[in-house]
Amino acid sequence: MKHLLVNVVCKSNDEKEKALLELQNVCSQCRACDLCKTRSCTVFSDGNASAPIMLIGEAPGPDEDAAGKPFVGRAGQLLNTFLAEAGIDRKNDVYICNTVKCHTPQNRIPTNEEKRACQAYLYGQISIIRPKIILLCGTTALQSFIDQDLKITDIRGKWLNIYDDIEVMAISHPSYLLRQHSTEPNTPRWFMKKDLEKVKAKLDELM
Ligand code: URA
Repeated sequence: MKHLLVNVVCKSNDEKEKALLELQNVCSQCRACDLCKTRSCTVFSDGNASAPIMLIGEAPGPDEDAAGKPFVGRAGQLLNTFLAEAGIDRKNDVYICNTVKCHTPQNRIPTNEEKRACQAYLYGQISIIRPKIILLCGTTALQSFIDQDLKITDIRGKWLNIYDDIEVMAISHPSYLLRQHSTEPNTPRWFMKKDLEKVKAKLDELM
């Protein structure tokens, strides 16, 4: 997938914001797949264009479709708690977006065609932001970014060798963690805490 990044040279935060706004405007008119018929709006991103971490989720849920921002519903609130507990500031440290920019009917998993239709927006965002760390949050992000057959449980928490200059890690999706309540060692919530502690340590090392 390395070839999908293009060389966009945005030096300042203003340049990044301007480039992202242009891409967002194009995305807001997108009719590349049928999701445009049922969405309220495209959900492009939330957060700082110069953030060192880019977190990529699946697709906006109903709350996000109404608000026009990613991860604002219950899963987003749980994500905020995990980030804060690890010492990661969602507002300043993280630029959040999704693999697919439109809500899917009945919140179903996006199809391959829908993911393909959205790919240029996602890789455009990465190319402009050039984060130091990418977090692939959940199965859809992991499988569409790297390999259709990978499982979060096998790969989460490991630094993946995808780019020379961007550290990539897969983490569990907070929607899954909403259904997992235990915080005992070796449970999904415990792994999420440990994974984000690793991310924070990497962030401190890189900054
Ligand atoms: N789940 C996602 O993957 N993204 C959102 O924006 C909200 C819930």
